[in-house]
Amino acid sequence: LWLRYPPLEADTRERYRPQLRQLVIPERERSQTLQAIERELVRGVGGLLASAPELRERIEGDGFVLVATPQTSRAIRGAGLPLRDLGDEGYLIRSATLDGHKGTVVAANTERGLLYGSFHLLRLLQTNTPLADVDIASQPRIGLRLLNHWDNLDRTVERGYAGQSIWDWWNLPDLLDPRYTDYARANATLGINGTVLNNVNASADSLTPRYLAKAAALADVFRPYGIRVYLSARFSAPVEIGGLDTADPKNPKVQRWWKDKADEIYRVIPDFGGFLVKANSEGQPGPQDYGRSHAEGANLLARSLAPHGGVVMWRAFVYQQDNPEDRAKQAYSDFVPLDGQFDDNVIVQVKNGPIDFQPREPFHPMFGAMPSTPLMMEFQITKEYLGFASHLAYLGPMYEEVLRADTFVKGAGSTVAKVIDGNLHNHRLTGIAGVANIGSARDWTGSIFNQANWYVFGRMAWNPELGAEAIAREWLQITFGRDPRILETGLAMMMASRQAVVDYMTPLGLAHLMATGHHYGPGPWVSDLARPEWNPAYYHRADRNGIGFDRTSEGSDAVSQYAPAVAKQFASRSAVGDDLLLWFHHLPWDYPMPSGRDLWEELAHRYDRGVQAVGKMRTQWRSLEPLIDAGRFDKTARLLAVQEREAQWWRDASIAYFQSVSRRPLPEGVSPPP
Ligand code: GCU
Repeated sequence: LWLRYPPLEADTRERYRPQLRQLVIPERERSQTLQAIERELVRGVGGLLASAPELRERIEGDGFVLVATPQTSRAIRGAGLPLRDLGDEGYLIRSATLDGHKGTVVAANTERGLLYGSFHLLRLLQTNTPLADVDIASQPRIGLRLLNHWDNLDRTVERGYAGQSIWDWWNLPDLLDPRYTDYARANATLGINGTVLNNVNASADSLTPRYLAKAAALADVFRPYGIRVYLSARFSAPVEIGGLDTADPKNPKVQRWWKDKADEIYRVIPDFGGFLVKANSEGQPGPQDYGRSHAEGANLLARSLAPHGGVVMWRAFVYQQDNPEDRAKQAYSDFVPLDGQFDDNVIVQVKNGPIDFQPREPFHPMFGAMPSTPLMMEFQITKEYLGFASHLAYLGPMYEEVLRADTFVKGAGSTVAKVIDGNLHNHRLTGIAGVANIGSARDWTGSIFNQANWYVFGRMAWNPELGAEAIAREWLQITFGRDPRILETGLAMMMASRQAVVDYMTPLGLAHLMATGHHYGPGPWVSDLARPEWNPAYYHRADRNGIGFDRTSEGSDAVSQYAPAVAKQFASRSAVGDDLLLWFHHLPWDYPMPSGRDLWEELAHRYDRGVQAVGKMRTQWRSLEPLIDAGRFDKTARLLAVQEREAQWWRDASIAYFQSVSRRPLPEGVSPPP
């Protein structure tokens, strides 16, 4: 991962060494977090500078790094540092003269702040940033920064493409794989502070004493790294493992059961974070089974956790069987009327778009639409609909696109980022979750470049206004070194990669054209699944005359769920833009596009363009062969070959299918499918 700490170039090492001679961490023997910081700095500085810093009890000369809070260090107490506004996770990194000596301080109000500051210091070295006159203050903009593991208790991973679950449930709690510690280190570098261990399609067994002991063992490993454990809770658990005959939130026995369960959990995991719940969605049980609302269901669990300080993350990913309403509208229809009915320790977790982690979707209309309810973001890091672990797609630009999208609910500048960081509607409870792409694969994520998606998620969770390109640059430097050729070429590959996937899978705002079930490979022709909204044909609506989903007032009117300024833009064929055109509009094949082509020609052209972009990535990668170790070079090269072949497959299958419907000749320059 990004914790390799290989030696920096010799001249850089020489420049840093006098500044990093001694490491001073007062009172470290009393705290596991301070010890973790010490281990990491010794390992990191030691690796990067090819010589470990000396450990000192106090500052003894120039070139110190002092890592301390006002409680652990008199020098920090006396230094008059502006720590007050940094909260309990923020930190300062500053050049300072203390006790007559020059050095660097990492200061914070809490040990967790020190942890994040220390990792930031290492990042400065990894990216070759000068330390002289360093002056950094940083604190997270979002409170809950979580990974969601869709990991099952049998170690399969729903939508996981990097091997088995890293949680070895069978051997827990007795065996603690060193990977658990490395997992915590990697997350702490990014500021990720929580992890939901099990799948949202949850087994009630995860709440039995046997599994709670296993979760508690993981919580013990993660705690020094500032990471809390959460669990996905199955709404019907009181029936399945509690022996009750109902899970109705209004039933006092059910209420008692959840209260007792929460008490039991906190006895073994005193800092347990809370529950994530998928209810009344895709066959999962929920309060609606008893005629109760999502709010009543969420509050049931929230009240059991409240005395302990836990939260409920209640997912808004709902759409009902036999509901004729446009699937893109259903979550909003279900949830927005409940605004104001959720308890204070409930946060509603909303996927970035209204359907389901497609290569491109507009932002979810719930963002901004529930001012009295905190909403958290759910991104998918694992690439269920973007070619699994085999295709290279850097998700930074996608996250950025969503976070920067303007909801206009309080006028221009009401971005999705400001909804989820609590700014727009003054919420203190804030959160962001990423569905993890981590497994037991040797490279953790199934490919080296997928590591960048975990990385960019974490960095944007800390600060949703960071740019995808800057983060890609940082990741490339840390991962492959600072050779400008790698940086330039790698950056070009990464920044073009997500649009390439959009182009060869679902161009121009199309969505959900993947083959059934596994969601890998093309299936735009599928139209006979029992649930209409699982059919690609439901989404593209292509026929002899045209293609696209009319979501204007003439169609499903999904546009009306957005603020008027946004609705107006999305409803306009000319203002909506190419990227979301067919998401919101059904248009004739000869509709004139800004490029001068008609829609049919443009569609074929986009498919072609996507394949070409992958071909280019392959060539670019090949040019880096002399600069990258054989193991990482070769695996990436092979995966890019797979991706090119499969981009071609997508292109050919999609063009062939849409041509069979449109009956239009292939545009010039587009080669026919075999
Ligand atoms: C998608 C995915 C499922 C998952 C679901 C969810 O539909 O295909 O595997 O369970 O999202 O987010 O709950």
